[in-house]
Amino acid sequence: MKIKSKGPGVQEMFDAIAGRYDLMNRVMTMGQDQKWRRFVVQKAGDPGGGWSLDLATGTGDIAALMIDTYRKARLVGADFSQNMLKEAQKRFIGTAINWQGCDANKLPYKDNVFDSVTFGYLLRNVDDSSKVLKEVFRVLRIGGRVVCLDTTPPAKTLLYPFLQFYFRFCIPTLGKFIADDESAYAYLTGSTMDFYKAEALASVFREAGFTQVGFKKFMFGTIAVHWGEK
Ligand SMILES: C[S@@+](CC[C@H](N)C(=O)[O-])C[C@H]1O[C@@H](n2cnc3c(N)ncnc32)[C@H](O)[C@@H]1O
Repeated sequence: MKIKSKGPGVQEMFDAIAGRYDLMNRVMTMGQDQKWRRFVVQKAGDPGGGWSLDLATGTGDIAALMIDTYRKARLVGADFSQNMLKEAQKRFIGTAINWQGCDANKLPYKDNVFDSVTFGYLLRNVDDSSKVLKEVFRVLRIGGRVVCLDTTPPAKTLLYPFLQFYFRFCIPTLGKFIADDESAYAYLTGSTMDFYKAEALASVFREAGFTQVGFKKFMFGTIAVHWGEK
């Protein structure tokens, strides 16, 4: 699936796969995905009684780990897919997370309000990562942290042919049988291969105004967590 302007197409795609999203995630990452989210939460740090925003929260895993880890934190889990948010609400019923519908391109929050902003697999799904990062910068308070988890194009090492096979064949095939949507997972592969390399994405963070920018790769260099400070 090639999506020209990502907004509406991406929203529709996540609305369609919401019910099978978590199972598919666990299977295609061989159960590793929660480990990366825990790393995101650790890098975000404890906001104390302050506010944290988990943008593109999807079915809510990062937001739930944040509130589980930092008991006094006040959490907003925001996404533009209503079906993903419905899954999040079902999964984490009874937690004190504020689930909200919003588009990452134009955040409905005032300047300098969040102690941290996290997001998993958002930037690869937007048309302009730089614009979204500037919005995130705007809503963070000075000293606040951003932490981003996403797939990243693998380097051309000896492993590259195997990783390419996994991305181009195995992931769409798993998507077909588990999520009943081969094209959504072919899109995952295409958008990963077309996305910034981790070093280049770090520069986009710096250009958006962040300092102390760093990143760490996981899963044979196909996943990266980036962080920075306002
Ligand atoms: C692959 S899911 C990730 C969900 C979750 N963060 C996780 O770690 O599993 C990507 C999410 O980003 C959301 N998303 C993509 N573009 C967005 C945008 N412009 N504004 C808000 N949410 C967006 C989608 O609706 C989807 O729920």
